[in-house]
Amino acid sequence: MDKNELKQKIQELKQQRKAVIVAHNYQHDDVQEIADVVGDSFALSKYCATTDAEVVVFCGVHFMAESAKILSPEKTVLLPEIDAGCPMADMVTAEALREEKKKYPDAAVVCYINSSAEVKAECDVCCTSSNAVNVIKSIKEKDILFVPDQNLGHYISKLVPEKNIIFWKGFCITHHKIKTDEVEKMKKLHPDALLLIHPECRPELVEMADFVGSTKQIIDYANSSENSKFIIGTEMGVLYKLKKENPDKTFYLMSQGLLCPNMKKTSLESVYNSLNEMKYQIELDEDVRVRAAKALERMLQVG
Ligand code: 13P
Ligand code: SF4
Repeated sequence: MDKNELKQKIQELKQQRKAVIVAHNYQHDDVQEIADVVGDSFALSKYCATTDAEVVVFCGVHFMAESAKILSPEKTVLLPEIDAGCPMADMVTAEALREEKKKYPDAAVVCYINSSAEVKAECDVCCTSSNAVNVIKSIKEKDILFVPDQNLGHYISKLVPEKNIIFWKGFCITHHKIKTDEVEKMKKLHPDALLLIHPECRPELVEMADFVGSTKQIIDYANSSENSKFIIGTEMGVLYKLKKENPDKTFYLMSQGLLCPNMKKTSLESVYNSLNEMKYQIELDEDVRVRAAKALERMLQVG
């Protein structure tokens, strides 16, 4: 099947299955094109909690589809590529976290949404990069054990200095590998461009930024800015929306290394196969799901 045929078939299957297709901002352009909703982790988890569709096809990585299932157990949640995981989420296990919690009995435990359902089940509250600061401010405890992203933890600790954040040593393999020399070169090449950065980047890069935010917040910032040039410090998938919504603005990727191989596993073909064969269905242990839902719902209450 060629691309147009695939797109046509996907639309037909979507109606038959009463499905919605949601896609993260890092997905391939053609996957974003056929999605009903494209957004950051927060917007997508909120959408999945409220849609009345019976089936959700989640074009993203495993923890995202799992979060949709945690919040909507009655829905069938499909992840088109079963191997699309997040290496950062795999850097903390429930068992390791249970051990660490013993060292800090008075600390609140907060997890980045980039974590498994089992890890979420061990936590008091979850956060995404768009609401992390507000979530941390909403917690009464001073000590906070934060997993798994050390860079997001560092970013929060700068903005909420009254809290004592205990970091886990996890990191995103895509964002963490970018170093300051590469960014300095880009800034010299494009001195009039604003630098917009994701908080999964190293702290020394975050300090150089004009704006720090989630993928959606970066897109919104560029959309409403009067500046016309931007250096984009997150995965290259965001360029699709940025260019589409701002044809007169110029975007430079901070580094050509900003590619998440797991996010790029999903293709039109895998979305078609997913709807056709109703695979791969996310299943969760009910006890884990209920405990993980508490952490996600508390996050959604903060907003
Ligand atoms: P956002 O919530 O900003 O979309 O980020 C998700 C992610 O995995 C970033 O690497
Ligand atoms: Fe995980 Fe990084 Fe890929 Fe986001 S970009 S899904 S944090 S590996």
